[in-house]
Amino acid sequence: MTAKLVVLISGNGSNLQALIDAIRMKVLPAEIVLVVANRTTAFGLERAKQAGIPAGYLLLKPYLDAGRTRVEYDADLAKMLAASKPDWVVLAGWMHILSAAFLKHFPYRVVNLHPALPGKFPGAHAIEEAFAAFQRGEIKQTGCMVHLVPDEAVDAGPVIGVAETPIYRSDTLEMLANRLHQAEHKLLVQSLQRLIVGDDEEDE
Ligand code: GRF
Repeated sequence: MTAKLVVLISGNGSNLQALIDAIRMKVLPAEIVLVVANRTTAFGLERAKQAGIPAGYLLLKPYLDAGRTRVEYDADLAKMLAASKPDWVVLAGWMHILSAAFLKHFPYRVVNLHPALPGKFPGAHAIEEAFAAFQRGEIKQTGCMVHLVPDEAVDAGPVIGVAETPIYRSDTLEMLANRLHQAEHKLLVQSLQRLIVGDDEEDE
């Protein structure tokens, strides 16, 4: 069965692009039915447009400026997605911690990509923190993971896939980031394949 994906982005959208390419090459049995950004400037919106995928954005600031809350934002975001009836909601470079007001609408169906190994460097600066830890001699490698987001814990849900990534003495931060992003693009496709096939097996 072709799984329906909604992809949430905040920036460049290179992981979204990896999904678009994998679907086009028939490597991933899925269809991206909607892309939503939390920034109007997210280049990923342009990538969606180029691929003919419906895309939109929902900004948090107008809520806060109007004295409304993140929970109201999260509930409206869920409504925006629910109409598409996604099988999976993929957080691909999504830089906003989602509350239960969102997550409760898609129980065990939200998938997050994080550029660190399980239990390491949660939050928005994982790559920089791994690079600094390597410089201090505290770690020898890093990596990325795809995990489910059953609750509000940040970058900490049940792990679907992990890719270990080496760090070299000669690395600059940019070289490490590029190596991690390449690993993420592969891992995200592999992890979604696993989830979609798992779904199909459940249906049998
Ligand atoms: C990626 O490292 C992702 O894991 C992190 O944001 C970065 C940007 O990803 N959350 P993308 O190029 O916008 O997909």
